[in-house]
Amino acid sequence: MGICDSTMGLSNTLLGMALLISGAASMMSQGYFNKTGELPCHFTNSQNISLDELVVFWQDQDKLVLYELYRGKENPQNVHPKYKGRTSFDKDNWTLKLHNIQIKDKGSYQCFIHHKGPKGLVPMYHMGSELSVLANFTQPEIMVTSNRTENSGIINLTCSSVQGYPEPKEMYFKLKTENSTTKYDTAMKKSQNNVTELYNVSISLSFSVPEASNVSITCVLQLESMELHSLPYNIDAHTKPPPARDPILWIAALLVMLVILCGMVLVFFLTLRKRKKKQPGPSHECETNKMERKESEQTMERVQPHVPERADEAQCVNISKTTSGNKSTTHF
Ligand SMILES: *[C@@H]1O[C@H](CO)[C@@H](O)[C@H](O)[C@H]1NC(C)=O
Ligand SMILES: *[C@@H]1O[C@H](CO)[C@@H](O)[C@H](O)[C@H]1NC(C)=O
Ligand SMILES: *[C@@H]1O[C@H](CO)[C@@H](O)[C@H](O)[C@H]1NC(C)=O
Ligand SMILES: *[C@@H]1O[C@H](CO)[C@@H](O)[C@H](O)[C@H]1NC(C)=O
Ligand SMILES: *[C@@H]1O[C@H](CO)[C@@H](O)[C@H](O)[C@H]1NC(C)=O
Ligand SMILES: *[C@@H]1O[C@H](CO)[C@@H](O)[C@H](O)[C@H]1NC(C)=O
Ligand SMILES: *[C@@H]1O[C@H](CO)[C@@H](O)[C@H](O)[C@H]1NC(C)=O
Ligand SMILES: *[C@@H]1O[C@H](CO)[C@@H](O)[C@H](O)[C@H]1NC(C)=O
Ligand SMILES: *[C@@H]1O[C@H](CO)[C@@H](O)[C@H](O)[C@H]1NC(C)=O
Ligand SMILES: *[C@@H]1O[C@H](CO)[C@@H](O)[C@H](O)[C@H]1NC(C)=O
Repeated sequence: MGICDSTMGLSNTLLGMALLISGAASMMSQGYFNKTGELPCHFTNSQNISLDELVVFWQDQDKLVLYELYRGKENPQNVHPKYKGRTSFDKDNWTLKLHNIQIKDKGSYQCFIHHKGPKGLVPMYHMGSELSVLANFTQPEIMVTSNRTENSGIINLTCSSVQGYPEPKEMYFKLKTENSTTKYDTAMKKSQNNVTELYNVSISLSFSVPEASNVSITCVLQLESMELHSLPYNIDAHTKPPPARDPILWIAALLVMLVILCGMVLVFFLTLRKRKKKQPGPSHECETNKMERKESEQTMERVQPHVPERADEAQCVNISKTTSGNKSTTHF
């Protein structure tokens, strides 16, 4: 459309004459999906011939007729069904408008002008044009597919853009921090509608959010002649989840656990001693000992890794040794 407009305005006559001479030159023309496109003819009626003496028609690359004006009157008879009701002729600038353009409409077209004289039809002029069809991709949109959790810090993003044509060249994420800009190239997922032939595209990114800096993520769709940018997705440094990885906190927690365990073991054996005193008996004691062993083995497993560091642990062990006399406790 743009190309045609400027050339028309600039040198309509010259161009028309040049085309008359070459006869095979072809104009480029651009249309948008589901909109109206123009198929130019660029005929300059220098001899001022009346439309009554002309036959004007357009054909596509398969020689199907889009439109015919026979001696000033529209003649739908030769028009192919797929173009019926989709065209309108502009007498002022000899342009055929094609409505509701589909991707399938892209290709080459010919405009013919014949003179209807007393000796029959005489070819006077013809011109070819090449129609390309575009569909604007929607503005790319970033979506969070899985959010950071406190222990992963990884965020999964998807960016998508839909209903465009032709196929884009490239799609990528741009990560901007205070000091750097990084381009993340990932495989573009494409799907094409088998009826409209429009494309949907998307990319995904899984990335680890840096702890100490603000990040701004943009998604870029690279088309043949332009770039589309998404709105930025911002992650602020101070909104990151608290790390909870303080070593002092860990040690403190361990100490508290040890103290509690010791206390529990102590209580256990004290109650055991009380019970022994109340109900003495060989068979029963044997049973208790077995039970005891199990218990202290379990206790040992839990406590063992931390034992050597602790002095009060030894006390704890001593007590259990004296109370139970069990062999397993000597491993402490
Ligand atoms: C074509 O455009 C019309 C409005 O102009 C809209 O209602 C329709 O959904 C569009 N069709 C497609 C396939 O995009
Ligand atoms: C062309 O012919 C029409 C009548 O057929 C006349 O009104 C018009 O002035 C003519 N234009 C030129 C440029 O000769
Ligand atoms: C032809 O004229 C119509 C208006 O009458 C305009 O919309 C269209 O852009 C013109 N086409 C060209 C190729 O100049
Ligand atoms: C498509 O995008 C171009 C460039 O931004 C714009 O000039 C044109 O009007 C858009 N066309 C449609 C049909 O939205
Ligand atoms: C992800 O987490 C941020 C805050 O950390 C929240 O604002 C956002 O809504 C979350 N997004 C999703 C998709 O859960
Ligand atoms: C493309 O996206 C549109 C809108 O999200 C959806 O309706 C359509 O089914 C998608 N087409 C394909 C081929 O995935
Ligand atoms: C388009 O694809 C759908 C399924 O994805 C299928 O059912 C349908 O027949 C296809 N249509 C054409 C024209 O190929
Ligand atoms: C995030 O993406 C990565 C890589 O694609 C994947 O391994 C991981 O399972 C995803 N996480 C979630 C929570 O979906
Ligand atoms: C992050 O951005 C906020 C403003 O949005 C600013 O106040 C803060 O200082 C920035 N932090 C870093 C680490 O750059
Ligand atoms: C950015 O650069 C400045 C100066 O070189 C440095 O002090 C700062 O820590 C850097 N920020 C990040 C997030 O790397």
